[in-house]
Amino acid sequence: MTREVLALTDRMKGRDWLMTQDWVDDEIELVLNTANQLKTDFKTGVQTLHLPHKTIFLIFFDKSTRTRNSFEAGITQLGGHGHFIDSATSQIAHGESPKDMGIILSSYGHGIAIRHDTVPGEGQAYMREVAEWATVPVINMQCDVDHPCQTLADLMTIREEFGKDLRDLKIAVSWAYAPSYVKPMSVPQGLIMLMTRYGMNVTLAHPPEYTLMEEPMRLARENTMRSGGNFEVVDNMEEAFADADIVYPKSWGPESLYGNPEEAMKVAAQYRHWICDEPMMSKAKQKAIYMHCLPADRGSEVVDAVIDGPQSRVYPEAENRMHTAKALMALTM
Ligand code: CP
Repeated sequence: MTREVLALTDRMKGRDWLMTQDWVDDEIELVLNTANQLKTDFKTGVQTLHLPHKTIFLIFFDKSTRTRNSFEAGITQLGGHGHFIDSATSQIAHGESPKDMGIILSSYGHGIAIRHDTVPGEGQAYMREVAEWATVPVINMQCDVDHPCQTLADLMTIREEFGKDLRDLKIAVSWAYAPSYVKPMSVPQGLIMLMTRYGMNVTLAHPPEYTLMEEPMRLARENTMRSGGNFEVVDNMEEAFADADIVYPKSWGPESLYGNPEEAMKVAAQYRHWICDEPMMSKAKQKAIYMHCLPADRGSEVVDAVIDGPQSRVYPEAENRMHTAKALMALTM
């Protein structure tokens, strides 16, 4: 390890991971390199007990498959332990403050991770308040603004496919119809914020009701100016998919209707034709890859032939959630 990498690694200890935008490029590079190493170690059976007997508290205000299990399995593989906390069955449900959570959990362990993603205006603010009082790193497992653990795994997956230089690749981040529940806005917002840092051509597509929050849009434009890529917004999936190298169609809700899911579903029902099927995939490049953070609404967001087809990378993408979660814990805790 060079002196620079050692200094950078030292700098990571105790750092919060609340938005990708909070970390500079060489810090993101370090976490991806660490994730690559941890992935190789996992696949070759090398033990990685970097956090022996350390505890991370995993607070969930919402459901999860990948995030919970990638953190729980990941901390076990690092030699530590993850405590699952369901907000509904803890004193958070009786109004216990983020300040108290930050101070008290810091006195019991070594890291706090939080998912708080379904109420616009709340999740990121809650995490920042916990972090203000915590003396251990706080990790965002998805909030209203960003899903930095997901987009980091997405970046790792894209690099595995296309290499490190992503300049001029086109990624289509598109809304898609889903009837299951009102999905958070944080994945498309996280994608436009992170991918614009790498000189990519990012095209965002959505029906008029599905505009993203102002701050992620501002950051995406600012990142594009710095990286030399392109960021545009269109109102149809076809245009976004045209000649794309990567397509990432998924559902999210209208910002004003998270408290009114029935009304949100009525709005969404007008756009059932926003589905990623084989004719839609054929508009992208022949070698284009299909990505989705999962869970996907099969038959609504995407047809089986695409998500189970040769262009789909959803399983490597989901797997990389664990390697990147381990890297974040190993570096910050
Ligand atoms: N992609 C993702 O965050 O999955 P979960 O909701 O299952 O954690």
